[in-house]
Amino acid sequence: MKTVKIKPLETNSKLIVLGFYEDKKELSEIQTELDKKFLGVISSNILKNFTGKFNEILTFPLENGVKIVALGLGKYNEFTSKKLRELIVKNYSSIQKLAADGVISFEHILNDNVCKKCLISSVPLGINLGNYKFDKYKTKKQDKKVENIELLTLTDDSDLDEAINMAEIISNSMNFTKDLVFESAEIMTPNKVSEIATDLAKNYGIEIKVYNKNKLKEMGFNAFLAVGQGSVQEPKFIHLTYKSENPKKKVALIGKGITFDSGGLDIKPPSSMLTMKTDMTGCATVLGVMKAICELKPEIELHVMSALCENMPSGSSYKVGDVLISKSGKTIEVDNTDAEGRLTLADVLTYADSINPDEVIDIATLTGAVIVALGNNITGIMGNNQEMIDEFIETCKLTGEPVWQLPIFDDMQDNLKSDIADMKNTGPRYAGSSVAGRFLENFTKSKKWLHIDIAGTAYIDKPYSELQKGATGVMVRSLVKYLTK
Ligand code: BES
Ligand code: MN
Ligand code: ZN
Repeated sequence: MKTVKIKPLETNSKLIVLGFYEDKKELSEIQTELDKKFLGVISSNILKNFTGKFNEILTFPLENGVKIVALGLGKYNEFTSKKLRELIVKNYSSIQKLAADGVISFEHILNDNVCKKCLISSVPLGINLGNYKFDKYKTKKQDKKVENIELLTLTDDSDLDEAINMAEIISNSMNFTKDLVFESAEIMTPNKVSEIATDLAKNYGIEIKVYNKNKLKEMGFNAFLAVGQGSVQEPKFIHLTYKSENPKKKVALIGKGITFDSGGLDIKPPSSMLTMKTDMTGCATVLGVMKAICELKPEIELHVMSALCENMPSGSSYKVGDVLISKSGKTIEVDNTDAEGRLTLADVLTYADSINPDEVIDIATLTGAVIVALGNNITGIMGNNQEMIDEFIETCKLTGEPVWQLPIFDDMQDNLKSDIADMKNTGPRYAGSSVAGRFLENFTKSKKWLHIDIAGTAYIDKPYSELQKGATGVMVRSLVKYLTK
């Protein structure tokens, strides 16, 4: 997909999308220019016949083969850039069908309450998200996609170009993440993910280390290896490093990489297992973030890490009652083999300490409890540094990704008391997400650690706002924004 800025009168496109507010019955500057070119049809016809209600869409064919699509923006004071993306994603298929030559022109919609950059970049972002479909296994593929976007704008501001470029990079990264998540576990094995990560590193000329089982044994990743030991797939640990010339901070970004979570011997019921190929979304997300960072080249040092394995029941599986000597030396009694993500993350958090990062962030489809607490559209976050949490929340407000902080109290450790080891990996059912967070906290020495639980938001069964159903690529945007600002 290619996006260019263009002056309204210079377009030869056959499909022009214009936005109309419900409560502002006047032409925008861009519409005024086009109105002259199209002999007053916008002022005389469209403005009169179109209500502008949010999500209303109407096509006006003109005589010269040009079609104008009117998009209802709703109330002026309620409009946001997120709503614009939502409109584009929701109406994508009808717009795309009208764009016979794969080109669409889109008005740079303006609103005094929303930044210009946010509004213009929402168009390529929305279209690239709308463009996405995981149809590799469909014998009948999606209709042709939008190839070229012309953004009709009167502004020459080079800031806008930067925002457009960023939107393209970020939406491509989100789609990259979604591709990994949608793929079946049979294909997206630990080894396959490590190959994809290696290709990514080669492509951008960054460093990658891939550790295999024997090496991991030597390095003491015992909690991680226990989780993978019931599977025929060999576990892998990947560590990618991006480093700019004068990095302002060093961040370790860890993604949960369970390529399939059957629950292990504490096997999941069928309905809970259905989507468990997505249990590597944390890994897919941090790889997506790394891809964007390699293209945006901010002044940071970013370490992306993921422990990849399958959690399977078999004769060689780890068992409840096993005591694992984690990489940190702390011992963990296995209380439930389905609480595997935190075991793998524990060892990675310890490994991350060894590079002395300024900040540590982990992202994981960690607990069903976060869905009980926040549903499928709000991501749970927690950590050990309120300033860092607040900064992340502010970032998410900018990107429009809903997040909510959950508490971690020190005495939650009581839930994890073991008679024979330093702790158990689970406790009573209540406050499950926070208790999981408390568990993880034992394994980081960092004073700035943030934990993101995307169990509810990684994969959704109905569309929400600007997100289509299925893999969402959630948090790619916010993490990239957080790391680049
Ligand atoms: N991968 C699951 C969490 C999950 C649930 C992700 C639903 C996406 C959707 C995790 O490994 C898990 O099984 N957690 C258990 C923990 C429990 C045994 C303490 C859970 O939440 O049920
Ligand atoms: Mn599990
Ligand atoms: Zn899991």
